[in-house]
Amino acid sequence: MIDAMDIQITKVERSKINEVDFNNLPFGRYFTDHMLEVDYADGEWKTAEIKPYQPLLLEPSLAALHYGQAIFEGIKAYRNKDGHAYIFRPYDNFKRFNISAERMQMPAVPEEIFIEGLRRLIQVDKNWMPNKEDYSLYIRPIMFATDTSIGVKPSDTYKFIILLSPTGPYYAAPMRIYVEEKYTRAAPGGVGFAKNAGNYGGSLKAAADAKARGYDQVLWTDSTEHKWLQEVGTMNVFFIFGNKAVTPSLEEGTILEGVTRDSAITVLKEMGLTVEERKINIDEVIDGYKKGTLSELFGTGTAATISPIKELRYKDFVMQFETEKWKISPTLKKLLTDIREGRKEDKHGWMVKV
Ligand code: COI
Repeated sequence: MIDAMDIQITKVERSKINEVDFNNLPFGRYFTDHMLEVDYADGEWKTAEIKPYQPLLLEPSLAALHYGQAIFEGIKAYRNKDGHAYIFRPYDNFKRFNISAERMQMPAVPEEIFIEGLRRLIQVDKNWMPNKEDYSLYIRPIMFATDTSIGVKPSDTYKFIILLSPTGPYYAAPMRIYVEEKYTRAAPGGVGFAKNAGNYGGSLKAAADAKARGYDQVLWTDSTEHKWLQEVGTMNVFFIFGNKAVTPSLEEGTILEGVTRDSAITVLKEMGLTVEERKINIDEVIDGYKKGTLSELFGTGTAATISPIKELRYKDFVMQFETEKWKISPTLKKLLTDIREGRKEDKHGWMVKV
C-alpha cells in the first residue's frame, strides 16, 4: 500500500486552460491538464502518478473491453465563497466505489489513493475550478480490468484513474420522462446497485427510444410487472405528495444508492417533510396526479443535482406539471447549493477541504 507521500507528480509544460470557455461548459466535454493513474498488479496497488492528461496505450485483448469489468464514480468539487476548493461527500463515493468493485470481482482501492490522490490532483489543477453558481469541477474516478487475456475470469491487473472536468449543469431545463416498460435496467440479484459501466451501456437503447418519442430519459420500472418505479437514467427519483416525499427504497439492490439522494433525504427532513423510502408503484403516482396530491417530482444525482420533471408519460397517459410554481424542489436545490458553495453552514460535515 502507498501513502500520500508516494504520489509522483509530473506537470504539463503548457496548460490548455486558455482554450476553454468557462462560460460554456457542457457536461463532460473538457478535461483538466492532469490525471491520476495507478496500476494494480501482483496483488497490490503500485505507485500513484499525477501526470499530463493523455491517451492510454491498450491492447485489443484488454479484459475490460470484452467482459465489462469497469466501474466509475461521479463526485463534484466546488469553490466556496472564500475561494477555497471543497469536495462534496467524497468518502461516500469512495465507499460506493468499493461496493461496486466487490460486486464486479475487482480489488478495493485504498482510501489513501482515492481520497488523497483526488485531493492532490485537485491541488495541481486548482485553476480549473469554475467560479460560477451551479458550476463545479466534476470528478470521474474509474477502474477497469487490464489483463490481456480473453478467458472469462476476474482480471489479475487493473488501472485506477481519476479525471477532472469543469462543468455546468447536466440538465439545463426541466425534464420530460418516459416510464419504461419494455426494457429492464436491473432485477433483484443483478448489478443495479453498482456503478458499473455496463449499467449505462445497457440503458442507451431505452434512452434512444424515449428520445425518438420526444423524451429526455426513461424512468425504469421493475423487471416483472413493469409497475414499480426504480430510477431515471442518470439519477434517483423523488415524488412530493403534500408534505411527504417518497423515493424508491434500496432494499432490492436494483437502484443506485445516490449520494445526492441521501443528501436530499436529509435536507427534505430538515425542511419539515416526512420522507418515505419504500416501494412506489406508477398507479400511486397517476392517482396522486389525478387527485392533485402529487405536487412535484424530480431527479437527484451528482451530475444532475436536483432536476425537476415537467412531464411524465406512462403508456398514453401524460402528466404535466407547472414547475415554475413549485416550492419544495427549488428550496431543496438552493439549500444544497448553498451548503456546497459555503453560503450555508455544513452541519453534516459533507464538505471536505482540498
Ligand atoms: C453522476 O451523476 O455523476 C453520474 O455518474 C451519472 C451520469 C452522468 C452517468
